[in-house]
Amino acid sequence: MAASDTGIRASAPGRVNLIGDHTDYTGGLVLPMVIDRETTVTGTWIEEPRWTIRSDDMAEPATFSVPVVDPAAVRPPWARYVAGVIAEFENLGAVVPGFEGEVRTTIPICSGLSSSAALEVAVARIILQASTASFAPTEVALACQRAEQRATGVPCGIMDQLSIVSGRRGSATLIDCHDLSIEYVDIPDSIEFDIRFVHDRALADSAYAERVDQCAAIEEEIGPLRSADVDVLSRISVDVLRRRARHVISENRRVRDFTAALRSADVVTAGDLMTKSHWSMAHDYETSTPEMDRAVEAALREPDVFGARMTGGGFGGCIVVMRTKRSRSASVE
Ligand code: GLA
Repeated sequence: MAASDTGIRASAPGRVNLIGDHTDYTGGLVLPMVIDRETTVTGTWIEEPRWTIRSDDMAEPATFSVPVVDPAAVRPPWARYVAGVIAEFENLGAVVPGFEGEVRTTIPICSGLSSSAALEVAVARIILQASTASFAPTEVALACQRAEQRATGVPCGIMDQLSIVSGRRGSATLIDCHDLSIEYVDIPDSIEFDIRFVHDRALADSAYAERVDQCAAIEEEIGPLRSADVDVLSRISVDVLRRRARHVISENRRVRDFTAALRSADVVTAGDLMTKSHWSMAHDYETSTPEMDRAVEAALREPDVFGARMTGGGFGGCIVVMRTKRSRSASVE
């Protein structure tokens, strides 16, 4: 490929999860939607087998040779997301040429809006422009999920990558994380979702991995959480595991009910389910923080708000608020 092949460009949006958090890694239901903030990678193919990407948000550029041998060893750490995606596509048979360019993003970093997944998907879309093989959207999402897991060591689920790869502006994406099937859910005209940043995420990686382990321990005791009902809770002997299971089981139910409520434009029921989801995460799953709880309570005191909850992995980040429509459909304040 010649260095004069200029003008390579690919983008991917961030996502907000409307409801269904910490359900994806047990094959449950999630309902995210893409937002009006995105990450864009631009650059040129080069002869040398090396990737170099600069970012105004990062002190050091991501630079490493291709093929990628060990993405987890690449420095600086943000380069691991890029190298991880390349390594995954190389494993799938793609031949990835050298590239030089830059990345820009309007997605706030470390705020639970999937800036890392957006970077992964944008890099994947760059790679696909050089590839003769084609990949289904689900394969792209799974490759990006594996890249994130290898880059960070965190056993994340599929929600972020799949919602970004398959999202449509203005609709939410109902994902069954067991069979990866997707349905689009229209947002009623009368409402919109505000995304409000509360504080940076802290200790998120270790606490996330602990929740994943706890769910695995629960499933050893009672079988798959995705198909469990609340009557199994009495069989779980350890209190903390019983509460974790109650969140996951009730959250899957809330995703179903919220989807039905949106489809029938029952915004009062939908808002109530969002708020219940927040308190389930705060009390049973313990992924909220006092500041996030206060932000939810403050939002609920506003006259045109129907419901509010923290969104994403938790331990900081953003809350999502469902309110009477002012102008746009999903925006970061
Ligand atoms: C993070 C993970 C997702 C999902 C959410 C919680 O965003 O990357 O896979 O588990 O947390 O719902």
